[in-house]
Amino acid sequence: MANTIPRLGVNIDHVATLRQARGENYPSLVDAAHTCLNNGADQITIHLREDRRHIQDIDIPAIQLVTKKFGKPLNLEMGCNQEIIDIATTTAPDWICIVPENREEKTTEGGLNILDQQIFNRVSETCELLRGKLPKIKISLFLEAKSDILKLATKIAPNAIEIHTGDYARTFLGGDGHEKYIDEFEVARTFLLENKIACHAGHGLTQESVVPLLKHKLFEEYNIGHWVICQAVFRGLGPTVKNLKKIFEKASVKV
Ligand code: PXP
Repeated sequence: MANTIPRLGVNIDHVATLRQARGENYPSLVDAAHTCLNNGADQITIHLREDRRHIQDIDIPAIQLVTKKFGKPLNLEMGCNQEIIDIATTTAPDWICIVPENREEKTTEGGLNILDQQIFNRVSETCELLRGKLPKIKISLFLEAKSDILKLATKIAPNAIEIHTGDYARTFLGGDGHEKYIDEFEVARTFLLENKIACHAGHGLTQESVVPLLKHKLFEEYNIGHWVICQAVFRGLGPTVKNLKKIFEKASVKV
């Protein structure tokens, strides 16, 4: 195992949220991706939702030109929806992260409930379809850090599992009781490493709540979106990403 700096993926969905709020051509997603990568982001993450509330189909190839220029991965989050699967297979991002999707939700509310047989089957079929069309694709599944769920997920053989950190992050911001999540994440990490599955994290994280996770050397990749775009209102996108990256550079993780 080698020591490496954990990767920072920046989710730029909410730049598109601002644009869609007024139906204008700005702010530019291309400029946002460029600014993030120019300031140390290791990956750009976007979620093409079925309801197209933020990212639009046309954004994907445009953002992909930027990630390719920087030689960095594009991570596409998506639900198991045939129209989105078709778009993903024509765009061929570097990573696809399969997430649950409900139209009524404000944001992704938790990991995929693959304990439900129908959901398990749908996720498995989606992964098979994607692998059939995109032999080089790397797939991650967005899951809770629960041993029964993770054990079942090994049957799908994903390249990575992105652990849902939303509940942890909310508890951390509330000021008390986040340690139990750290323990859960430690167990999840050990299990995933034993099964040669990469361990990623995402949802709800801020510059403060990511620090204990970095200190405990839990994940090799973090995808952070909403906080970055909110902080950019005050500090600018470039300085926000640069500052976050500085914190990552002081950390290490065994992979
Ligand atoms: N990872 C996954 C799988 C997500 O669905 C999201 C939200 O789109 C994120 C990370 C980023 O979450 P946040 O915007 O809360 O930082």
